[in-house]
Amino acid sequence: MARTILVTGATGTVGSEVLRLLTGREGIQVRAAVRDQAKGAALAAPNVEPVWFDYNKPESLSPACRGADSLFLVAPMTPDGVPQALALLLAAQEAGVKHVVKLSVTNGVRDITIGQWHAAIDDALKKSTLAWTILHPGGFMQNFVEGSAPQPDGGIYLPVGSAKAVFIDTRDIAAVAAKALTDPGHRAKEYELAGPEALSHSEVAAIMSEASGRQIHFVDVPESAARQAMLGQHMPDWLVDLILELCAWSKAGGASEMNSTVADILGRPAHTFREFARDYADHWKV
Ligand SMILES: NC(=O)c1ccc[n+]([C@@H]2O[C@H](COP(=O)([O-])OP(=O)(O)OC[C@H]3O[C@@H](n4cnc5c(N)ncnc54)[C@H](OP(=O)(O)O)[C@@H]3O)[C@@H](O)[C@H]2O)c1
Repeated sequence: MARTILVTGATGTVGSEVLRLLTGREGIQVRAAVRDQAKGAALAAPNVEPVWFDYNKPESLSPACRGADSLFLVAPMTPDGVPQALALLLAAQEAGVKHVVKLSVTNGVRDITIGQWHAAIDDALKKSTLAWTILHPGGFMQNFVEGSAPQPDGGIYLPVGSAKAVFIDTRDIAAVAAKALTDPGHRAKEYELAGPEALSHSEVAAIMSEASGRQIHFVDVPESAARQAMLGQHMPDWLVDLILELCAWSKAGGASEMNSTVADILGRPAHTFREFARDYADHWKV
């Protein structure tokens, strides 16, 4: 009988790749959790069924979980995110879900807000009767496609100084998640996931320039200027604080730890930033 996997965050960076890796897999039935019907329709495939799911609509949680054996959990990182994720864990438990693969964050940030939010959910999962696997990735390379993408003048403006940071390709995170969801042997395991090299943001910009043929440069801005710019884009205060905490952590060298977990689990090397830049270069061309 086919095993059913509920994938949350199915339209997001990591979840969409998990979905792609599970699409067409024999013996696997996938439920793609979406809050927007039109987005769901685009994800449908012979073994993929979209299911309505919205953390803000508690009545959607239990029906989405019913009949699922496993859950890929992408928790919302908002001030309400912890109770919302805990409600999903409860619904999963009551619906008979057996195993949860949770997308968390590197343990390196455990002392700042984002780490504390994730830890509250991770701890509840570990204390529940559900089997679990927890993924602890560092900063995503794909952030340079959206949140930290170059501005129209080619500048990447961040208050992170010249500290080196290790970025991970979300395709590697998703590959580990898909393995944990489908292969035995990953239960009660926590995986700290990092990329294979530490780079300064100037080095990142140079690699993006080389891959795209566009002049991209890094500008180390004061925290106050970054705050003003984000508030000017109408970002809520809590999100601005969250991002600035992460930047300060990176600036202090917190993001510089590498490890070989991706290669150990997947049996192939993790993507380098150069490989990522080659594959995403079209996003930076003007
Ligand atoms: N970015 C990083 O560097 C980094 C590093 C380590 C860990 N993380 C963790 O990774 C997670 C985010 O993963 P991601 O980047 O793949 O996500 P993402 O690209 O930001 O996408 C978020 C996903 O969640 C869905 N979503 C948002 N609000 C929802 C709601 N109310 N109900 C149901 N679904 C909702 C979105 O659906 P819609 O399409 O409908 O909006 C989308 O599928 C966070 O927990 C973050 O802390 C991020």
